[in-house]
Amino acid sequence: MELPTKFSTRSHACGDLDSQNIDDEVALAGWVQKRRDHGGLIFIDLRDRSGLVQIVIDPQTPEAFSLAEKVRHEFVLAVKGRVTARPEGTVNPNLATGAIEVGATDIIILNTSKTPPFEIETELMVDENLRLKYRYLDIRRQPMLKNLINRHLVVTAVRSYFNSQGFVEVETPMLTKSTPEGARDFLVPSRLQNGRFFALPQSPQLFKQILMVAGMERYYQIARCFRDEDLRADRQPEYTQIDMEMSFVTQEDILKVIELLMADIFAAVGVSIELPFPRMTHKEAINIYGADKPDLRFGVPIVDISEIMAASTFNVFADTLANKGTIRGIKITPVKAFSRKELDELMGQAKALGAKGLVWMVVETNEKVKSPVAKFLSADEISNIISKFDAKTGDLILVVADNFETVVSVLGSLRLEMARTLDLIEDDFKFLWVMDFPLFKWNEQEKRIVSEHHPFTMPKTEQMHLLDSAPLDIFADAFDLVLNGVELGSGTIRIHQRSLQEKILKMLGLSSAEMTEKFGFLLDALEYGAPPHGGLALGLDRIIMLIQGCQSIRDVIAFPKTQTSSSLMTGAPDYVRPEQLRDLHIKTTELPAR
Ligand code: AMO
Ligand code: AMP
Repeated sequence: MELPTKFSTRSHACGDLDSQNIDDEVALAGWVQKRRDHGGLIFIDLRDRSGLVQIVIDPQTPEAFSLAEKVRHEFVLAVKGRVTARPEGTVNPNLATGAIEVGATDIIILNTSKTPPFEIETELMVDENLRLKYRYLDIRRQPMLKNLINRHLVVTAVRSYFNSQGFVEVETPMLTKSTPEGARDFLVPSRLQNGRFFALPQSPQLFKQILMVAGMERYYQIARCFRDEDLRADRQPEYTQIDMEMSFVTQEDILKVIELLMADIFAAVGVSIELPFPRMTHKEAINIYGADKPDLRFGVPIVDISEIMAASTFNVFADTLANKGTIRGIKITPVKAFSRKELDELMGQAKALGAKGLVWMVVETNEKVKSPVAKFLSADEISNIISKFDAKTGDLILVVADNFETVVSVLGSLRLEMARTLDLIEDDFKFLWVMDFPLFKWNEQEKRIVSEHHPFTMPKTEQMHLLDSAPLDIFADAFDLVLNGVELGSGTIRIHQRSLQEKILKMLGLSSAEMTEKFGFLLDALEYGAPPHGGLALGLDRIIMLIQGCQSIRDVIAFPKTQTSSSLMTGAPDYVRPEQLRDLHIKTTELPAR
């Protein structure tokens, strides 16, 4: 879908003109990208949202010419003129409008501009803080415009898909009680109720479940969510979810609806994707890739060699196995041999990731490796390792011995780091459903079980009997959608009976009083004919980031926050007047000097 580019006061958009418009009288408007004076003629590259076109001003039109002499970068112009073919030898094949130019008859300077702090160029290497401070100039650049326009096209496709499938868009409150997703809440003080606070929603989770109790059956929302958590490239304090919920469904129904949605989203930006998406259990993902969001654009699976090493006399391996640990590794096929120094650096990398050490082996023949520990391994052990990894001459094998969690997490991270440095990642969209997440996980710091997704997730029916005896062994009807190693979305079938919901909350450590205080409204609603239901939420910003090939979601959000959660353009967050605080019954501790 193209955006309309014709505006009432303009006959054409700059970037839309081509040879078919030759001899047309046109009225354009836009910003001055560049002005060049050449042999008596003035050339202006005029830019609007659609692109650039070259305007030529001849001294024969003296009024236009004298105005053209005054214009500078980013002045705003209205131009009338006639489209002509560019003279031979001056055609610019790198520009969409490069075969033509517009001979100006009239120019109006609609506004002047200060010299911008950076040039409005596509290829721009400018400090991001400067871009964020002058975001209006940054968004004039083609890549940012394209990111925001494609984001709009995706949202349009999302709405049209859900509408066609009988979903109803319902807005849920921004001023609410917190719905726990594990992050810290942003709080909003109540003026009318001294001492009380609203929370901004971390997600519409409880409201969408209540909409199912309310008989809405199919809900969606492009929902702004707020989480006060540590920021990273793919996390912002406010971000957008494509949120959905359905009644009377199984996990399969939800997966199917989301796959078709993703196909429409990608089609909206001209990419065709293959359905259905491959699936992997959470357990397999951790075992094979050391991550619950594996990047499948390259191989390098983790291989278990504990059995081969069962009788090893190498103390590191023997001790690990004696302590019920595991020995695993990855195989890399390097484009060029690693130097001794590089191999030693890998060891440092592994240690920084939490390993006690790293065994590297460079395969020399199918019976021989170069390795600092080769002398501790038998000939059989070496040839078994080589064949287990299916390794060829020149391949590098990296082995870590430790407890299971450390081994897979270190190897999972090394796998990613090696793929990035060695450029093993192909340019592709590799979707994956990660299925059957555990219901709970152990929080070592707090010494208690916590939900892997959230407390409203349904345990697998056939494992319900383990709730009291072995809660950590229970899996859930919970699934994540992963794309290129990024968690795009997360969904579950929900608990729809009060008694089970109370049991789970109790297992998570909530007293009856806390349950009522925090979730009373949900528990009450579950008693009035709650239908079986489930749903999922996708991170819209992350989807656009991947589609546009950006490194950060900041590049696909018009006005994002910095890593320290501030807006460089507006200066938010900021201090407020003492009267405002007084109205809100708030006293701050001593303020830092401004
Ligand atoms: P979850 O917490 O996994 O699930 O969030 C869903 C998706 O939202 C995106 N996301 C974020 N994107 C940018 N910045 C953030 N700070 C941020 N946090 C999350 C991710 C994530 O996969 N209520 C449940 C969903 C459900 O069960 O229906 C929920 O919010 O892409
Ligand atoms: P050490 O016995 O500590 O000198 O280690 C001998 C070799 O084994 C060194 O190359 C270490 O990096 C490696 N190593 C030590 N601990 C581990 C471990 N847990 N996993 C893999 N390699 C290790």
